[in-house]
Amino acid sequence: MKWTGSQSEAYELNRAMWDERVPAHWASKMYSRHADDLRAGGHCLSDNLIERVGDVAGKTLVHLQCHMGMETLSWSRLGAKAVGVDFSGPALERAVHLRDELNLDTRFIQANVYDAAKELGTGGFDVVFVSVGSLCWLPDVPRWAGVVNELLKPGGRLVINEVHPVCDMLGQPEGQNHLEPMYPYFPEEGRIFDGDGTYVDSDIKFKATRSVEWSHPLGEVVTALINAGMVIHWLSETADCCWPAYPMMEQAGPESWELPGAMRGKVPMTYSLVAHNR
Ligand SMILES: C[S@@+](CC[C@H](N)C(=O)[O-])C[C@H]1O[C@@H](n2cnc3c(N)ncnc32)[C@H](O)[C@@H]1O
Repeated sequence: MKWTGSQSEAYELNRAMWDERVPAHWASKMYSRHADDLRAGGHCLSDNLIERVGDVAGKTLVHLQCHMGMETLSWSRLGAKAVGVDFSGPALERAVHLRDELNLDTRFIQANVYDAAKELGTGGFDVVFVSVGSLCWLPDVPRWAGVVNELLKPGGRLVINEVHPVCDMLGQPEGQNHLEPMYPYFPEEGRIFDGDGTYVDSDIKFKATRSVEWSHPLGEVVTALINAGMVIHWLSETADCCWPAYPMMEQAGPESWELPGAMRGKVPMTYSLVAHNR
């Protein structure tokens, strides 16, 4: 169903949805594993991601839409002066709690992503980091690209690791074992989703069920970044996903799910993009 309300009403719905899910996310296997990796002196970032971001020691890094901050804390662990931004108060409370337990100096700021440059100032960051499950919550990608550009120092680097828009477009019909195009690939107004679950293991039936999401094709993201003054020098697509996006997916690694049978390896599920500003 199309969203016909305002952007601020959509943010309120989305925030309530995220806020309510935080305790279940914190208790989930995936996030507990990430927290335990941090407690054991490690981090929860993949080697690929670390390679794309490069050496962060002593560098300023802002993680947009950081959720409970485990990736942000991981960048601090690797030596970055890291800041996490998210609009969910309960998510940031967990992040701060874990930061204090780990004795790291990561900062967390509660703000809408569109206000990040207002909150943090312009031109202060070597790296802007955006990870899986972020852009679909944002109505305006050109405006977001402008914020990224404002946050970065000249020559600063943006690294995105995101759900592929083809993955957002497809769905597994209930009781069936195939995928179908369920949503338009191309940008349109926001879409209302109604669901009482979440993406991690949890039996809880949540009360805040409605959220608003926007689809952002790769062409829109790439063009928005170019128009904002960024130079793109890496774009790769992979056929695996870090959570089971459809019930039919099979686990291929601790944080990797793939489509089964004849579909394996044929459909893009994730993309990574690296850009720098001039
Ligand atoms: C899927 S999570 C990102 C997950 C992260 N990659 C992780 O695994 O922890 C998306 C986050 O975006 C945040 N969010 C959604 N819309 C936002 C907005 N407009 N401004 C700031 N944060 C937002 C939510 O609160 C949530 O924490």
